[in-house]
Amino acid sequence: MTQKAYITTPIYYPSGAPHVGSAYTSTAADVWARFKRSDGFDTKFLTGTDEHGLKLQRKAEEAGLTPQDYVDDMSTQFRALTDIMNLSNDDFIRTTEPRHHKAAQAIWQKLAQNGYIYKDTYSGWYCVSDEAYYDESELTEQDGKKIAPSGHPVEWMEEESYFFKLSAFEDKLLALYEEQPDFIQPNSRRNEVISFVKSGLADISISRTTFDWGIPVPNDDKHVMYVWIDALTNYLTADGYPNELNYWPAVHLVGKDILRFHAIYWPAMLMGADIDTPRKVFAHGWWTSEGKKMSKSFGNVVDPKEITEEFGIDAVRYFMLREVPFGNDGDFSRERMINRINTELANDLGNLFQRVLSMVQKNCDGKTPALGTLSNEDKALLELAQKALDATQQEIEALAFHKALDAIWEVIDAGNKYMDAVRPWELKKTNPAQMAHVLRVLMESFQIIAVLVTPFMPESGEKLLSQLGISGTCISDLSALPNLKEGTELPVPQGIFPRIDVEKAA
Ligand code: MSP
Repeated sequence: MTQKAYITTPIYYPSGAPHVGSAYTSTAADVWARFKRSDGFDTKFLTGTDEHGLKLQRKAEEAGLTPQDYVDDMSTQFRALTDIMNLSNDDFIRTTEPRHHKAAQAIWQKLAQNGYIYKDTYSGWYCVSDEAYYDESELTEQDGKKIAPSGHPVEWMEEESYFFKLSAFEDKLLALYEEQPDFIQPNSRRNEVISFVKSGLADISISRTTFDWGIPVPNDDKHVMYVWIDALTNYLTADGYPNELNYWPAVHLVGKDILRFHAIYWPAMLMGADIDTPRKVFAHGWWTSEGKKMSKSFGNVVDPKEITEEFGIDAVRYFMLREVPFGNDGDFSRERMINRINTELANDLGNLFQRVLSMVQKNCDGKTPALGTLSNEDKALLELAQKALDATQQEIEALAFHKALDAIWEVIDAGNKYMDAVRPWELKKTNPAQMAHVLRVLMESFQIIAVLVTPFMPESGEKLLSQLGISGTCISDLSALPNLKEGTELPVPQGIFPRIDVEKAA
């Protein structure tokens, strides 16, 4: 039976244009999904927009629109991320869709039936910008105003509300973290969550009566659901809930600021509704831009559309996943990006392919050359490529994108060293058959490189593959090396990774 894989991004608030944060998580999820598909998994990749709540209601009021008109318009900008970043998402969910209302109400009813929902009065602090409740002890004061850890102001709230009995899940959650040690990643974040849960969980307010832009609570439409209860359920909606689930459980990629919702509230809700908990929740870090917090007032907000138009989609995708270990914070610096494009893409990878394939074109009749007997040096290169394949599979499974790229670049570096050692341009005169042989050995290692870079850089990867005469080859098609077909007609190689002119870019 084909194995299944399911990955999700957070659903984004369409309250402003998509920024690098949304582009980042979506690209990471896309690389994972493309990799799993290439590796033979039946894969589902979900993203979308989170369209209810007071924050969006207020944004719509400011824009002089109804909330529905406002989100209809704004969510198209997020749908456009699919083209901007070349995403392969299988679905795009909007929480205002009827399928989602149905699912959110169904999970509510299930939780109520199981005795985990009760009515009471809520009084406490609420941050509309974060759509989150905070305990007094988490707040700081600024100019006489109370401020949430995110830096946004909080408001006092006091109203009748339904509550979810989160406190009933303390032990069950701790058991989950214990039994499934990679449920929360990276480990530093896992430890934070565990100590938070150990410090005691209070029940949470899960409905509001003072505004109405939300999903009505079943049998009590004076209340709308708390936006996070509604939003988290999207991961099930898109998989068919309340009907049979198809791909669940999912791997959730989230920013570090929304880990608590995904690693505490969400598994507790699922346990309360008798549904399997997620496979994993991975919290990534935040990007700054040129060393500073991204903000409109600094004028340093990285716009995914502008940056991909300037440098190319693949180069931006590569940079985001190579520059920062997934899980750490990182800085988006143009200089570092240009440097990586010029050295790692144009020089290391691009030039290597170009040098070898131009020689094949000129000296081997433009066809995959014949292979002679493999020397130890040849075997070492091919073994390294095979090893990179295994390593990449493991690193992608662990969401260590930078390490997967490291493993691929080890082969590229070894290919460059091999080329310099065997000097095919000299063999051309002294031993043409040996020249053909070493070029072929390099081409054998190239197919693994090309197949492995394709999920990261889909368009360039496909071009590399077609230069090798093996368009469309996937990880699951790769058999032990050597395996290329001698005599395959090859296209005239074209440079794939243009160098960036540093002065022009400045
Ligand atoms: N709607 C909720 C998520 C609901 S999921 C059931 C939400 N939306 S958001 O639009 O505010 O944030 C989406 C994601 O963007 C979060 O994961 C957040 O961490 C991420 N980022 C926002 N700014 C970021 C950076 N500067 N860098 C990296 N990611 C950042 O929260």
